[in-house]
Amino acid sequence: MFDPDTLPYYDPSVERRTALVTGGNSGIGWYTVLHLYMHGFAVYLCGRNSSRVNKAMKIITAEAKKRCADNPKVHLGSMYYLHADLADLQSVERAVKNVKRKESKLDILINNAAVMAMPYQITKDGFEIQLQTNYVAHFLLSMRLLPLLQKCNGRLIMLSSVGHNLEFMYCALGQDWNYRPNCVFTWLRYAMAKTASIQFVKMMAIKYPEVLCLSVHPGLVMNTNLFSYWTRLPIVGIFFWMLFQIVGFFFGVSNEEGCLATLKCALSPELSRDEDNGKYFVTGGREAKPSYVANNLDDAASTWIWTMHELRDRGYKV
Ligand SMILES: NC(=O)c1ccc[n+]([C@@H]2O[C@H](COP(=O)([O-])OP(=O)(O)OC[C@H]3O[C@@H](n4cnc5c(N)ncnc54)[C@H](OP(=O)(O)O)[C@@H]3O)[C@@H](O)[C@H]2O)c1
Repeated sequence: MFDPDTLPYYDPSVERRTALVTGGNSGIGWYTVLHLYMHGFAVYLCGRNSSRVNKAMKIITAEAKKRCADNPKVHLGSMYYLHADLADLQSVERAVKNVKRKESKLDILINNAAVMAMPYQITKDGFEIQLQTNYVAHFLLSMRLLPLLQKCNGRLIMLSSVGHNLEFMYCALGQDWNYRPNCVFTWLRYAMAKTASIQFVKMMAIKYPEVLCLSVHPGLVMNTNLFSYWTRLPIVGIFFWMLFQIVGFFFGVSNEEGCLATLKCALSPELSRDEDNGKYFVTGGREAKPSYVANNLDDAASTWIWTMHELRDRGYKV
């Protein structure tokens, strides 16, 4: 496994390094923020619920102080709450404005937030809930923050999933797959959003090579809130909980191990724009090949064009 202690530490009194993490208040995002904070970053925790994010910041501060008490390398950074509900594109626009008011550059953008295997639902912007939360809102956020990333040759990390492989042939994003049983088709919708995320990274790497863009499967991390919809179902929830625990026991990694691939992509000096742009990394920071669909550049271009048109039709010119 990759050791985050080998990554560079920054001193905020010498230089200001900035990062924005969506969904940084729980699961993998929580540990991602903890390590960025310990490495001296000013971290924006982008979330939809102020009390959850503020609580996370408090616990992260205490945890970082405990871990770094006698470590002379560490100069703790700072953390800020940034409100954005990814299921509402107006809210994303407001978050971007807030960041731009405070920062002239952004070193790292980590598009981590997601929902998984939810019942079919359409957001007020008219997208399927998983597609918007996991992909479309991050597309808009990234494009709006691109000038800040370009200013410092920053990095963009997109959390995908091994689950993207469930889209075994290209499905146009305009088709909503609202079929029964939900427990089958919801996974296809999740896979489509996560494939689109990898395709987005590949297109970004071609169009904007000055920013290092990478996608990540963090590992199977069964103790995050991602599985809550299933484990909280009445009666059958306990069955799903047991199933996820068994999968986790044999194939899973801890929440903290789940953030290692992201951290490597965000901070490792061994990765470069010339050699690595557009690549996909998996559990612990190992480079891997995504599915045939996610790797296909014609499909990636179709996904890009579809997204641009859909956003433009809703008044978001990117
Ligand atoms: N866990 C795994 O096994 C696994 C496997 C493959 C890929 N991944 C990917 O890893 C990433 C992190 O997942 P995780 O396991 O750490 O899940 P998690 O604990 O459920 O964290 C998801 C985060 O996304 C936020 N979020 C959800 N909907 C949002 C919205 N509409 N607006 C703003 N924020 C929203 C959540 O905020 P709230 O707290 O407010 O709900 C939470 O902070 C995801 O992209 C996931 O797809 C995870």
